[in-house]
Formats: sequence, structure tokens, C-alpha cells
Amino acid sequence: MGVSITILVGTMTGTAEMVAQEVEQALENAGHQATIEMMDNLDASVFQRGGVFLICTSTYGQGDVPDNAQKLFASLETDAPNLSSVIYGVIALGDRTYKETYCDGGKRFDALLTKLGARRAGDVLLHDASSGTLPEEVAAEWVVPWVEQHLQTSSELA
Ligand SMILES: Cc1cc2nc3c(=O)[nH]c(=O)nc-3n(C[C@H](O)[C@H](O)[C@H](O)COP(=O)(O)O)c2cc1C
Repeated sequence: MGVSITILVGTMTGTAEMVAQEVEQALENAGHQATIEMMDNLDASVFQRGGVFLICTSTYGQGDVPDNAQKLFASLETDAPNLSSVIYGVIALGDRTYKETYCDGGKRFDALLTKLGARRAGDVLLHDASSGTLPEEVAAEWVVPWVEQHLQTSSELA
């Protein structure tokens, strides 16, 4: 049975959006349903319906979430909704040359969602832009095993 996943995209220069598109394709090829939503103009209410979310975000500034993710992030901090009906994964894009803040955009979402009661499935996928690998390829290879190992056993999600 396929799993329904909403991919929320935080990006400054479009890499995370491209990653999300490849991930969506890989999920659909494997029989799952995926929907991409750019984080622009979203607030905490996007999580109200519960279910499975994949946060796909880059990192900017001093380890900040991208501009288009700021409103959603602030809304989660302020409203502090109970997200116990949410299961999530994180694809965090960054660059190891930013040592202390490596992939902090994704790591910040991870910490906040966990704090609000959401359950993370599996480990956060970290991608280093200096590694010579393409994030869209790495993420597309990662996502189907991620679903199969961590989500497909949850019959309520199918
Ligand atoms: C001005 C600037 C600041 C950045 N700051 C960080 C950072 O603090 N930590 C990190 O891991 N990556 C940082 N990055 C790397 C980006 O997160 C990475 O290149 C990412 O793939 C960009 O994705 P996007 O096109 O979706 O925004 C920075 C990049 C730029 C251009």
C-alpha cells in the first residue's frame, strides 16, 4: 500500500525545490503519493491534518532556515501546536564549509517538530554541497528505503 507524503520546501536558490521534485518522482514511481508545497506563506496550520511530512530545506545566514521558511518556523514557535499526529522526515541541505552551522536549517526544524510532539521517522538526511554528490540524486535514492523501513509498517498511514 502506498504512503501519502507532503513535502514542504524551504529554499533560497531552488536547490531544495529541485530535490523535492526528484523525491516526489521517486515516491510516485514506487507507488506512493507525494505533494510538494513551498513553505512560502504557510503557517503552523499546515500540520493540523496530521500524517506524514518531509521537510526539505536548505540553510542560510548563521545557520538559519531560508527566507521562505521563516514564517512557518516562527508560527510553529509562537503557536506551539500539539503535533502528536504528525510523522516527519528531514532532508537538510547545507555545506560543510559552514562548520558550526552545517545543515542547521533542517536540524532546527527537526528539533522544533520533536519539541512539539511530532515523531521523526528515521535519521535526518544531511547533504553537503561540497561533497561532489548531487542532492537530488542522493535524496531520490534515500527516500524509498526511508518509507519502506520507517513508514510502511504503520498500517494507519496507508
Ligand atoms: C549565503 C549563504 C549562506 C549559507 N549558509 C549555510 C550555513 O550556515 N550552513 C550550511 O550548512 N550551509 C549553508 N549554505 C549552503 C546552502 O544551504 C546549500 O548550498 C544549499 O544546497 C542551498 O540550497 P537552496 O538552493 O535550496 O537554498 C549557505 C549558502 C549561502 C549561499
